[in-house]
Amino acid sequence: MQPTDHLAASRYARMRWNTPLSEEHAALLLRRLDVRPGARVLDLGCGWGELLLRAVAAGGVSGPLATRGVGVDTDDAALARGRRLATGRSLNRHVAFVMGEAAAWQEPADRVLCIGSAHAFGGTGAALDALATVVRPGGRLLFGDAYWERPPTPQAEQIFGTEVTALAGLVEAARERGWRVLHLSTADQREWDDFESTWLAGRQEWLLTYPEDPRAAEVRAELDDRLRQYVDTYRGLLGLAYLVLGR
Ligand SMILES: C[S@@+](CC[C@H](N)C(=O)[O-])C[C@H]1O[C@@H](n2cnc3c(N)ncnc32)[C@H](O)[C@@H]1O
Repeated sequence: MQPTDHLAASRYARMRWNTPLSEEHAALLLRRLDVRPGARVLDLGCGWGELLLRAVAAGGVSGPLATRGVGVDTDDAALARGRRLATGRSLNRHVAFVMGEAAAWQEPADRVLCIGSAHAFGGTGAALDALATVVRPGGRLLFGDAYWERPPTPQAEQIFGTEVTALAGLVEAARERGWRVLHLSTADQREWDDFESTWLAGRQEWLLTYPEDPRAAEVRAELDDRLRQYVDTYRGLLGLAYLVLGR
């Protein structure tokens, strides 16, 4: 048996999901996604699938109209965490976590989630095109994607690329591909601060526990860089929008 790598285990340990999102906001999004009993739910770039599991539970898993879900990701450790969460909630017979490329998935579903994972398709436009082929007619897509709150600085564009647009551009990208916007909300500053803090917190705690580990200096530098980038460059500038889209 392999010894536990506490550094690897700490990486996302403090995160509920890997996106700026409060419990209350998540509950609103799930209501707007409106998962019906018996629905098939798909999450592309699911991470450990916390929202996927909640979406399936919201649809109900008892009786002949049991809701079922599939999460697809390329991160083995995240998928393993998703399977453990599913087992802990007795959802393991209803939710499968599959290792694979999001863009290669072809089986359509009634409700599709794609949050913070547009890059897996090559960017926002490519994701909105590809996702149209996996949402069944009459179905819904919960799409979480980045936008600029204000015109970006060159430093911010260097980190996040030139494809990110203002919120109006993101909405237009969906509209011009035939999607109807059933819901729109954005992450607020507290959600962003909590996301950035919890993204760092697992490894900050590891550093405090294992300051003599040979990897400590490298990890300390990485975490310091990320916090500096957030505070100096993109805090209040990069936004995250949640769109519930139908077609
Ligand atoms: C920002 S995280 C969001 C995770 C999850 N949707 C959530 O909200 O917690 C982006 C996810 O995309 C996954 N990913 C990156 N490239 C991918 C690809 N080509 N195919 C599938 N998943 C991918 C990463 O492993 C990561 O879990």
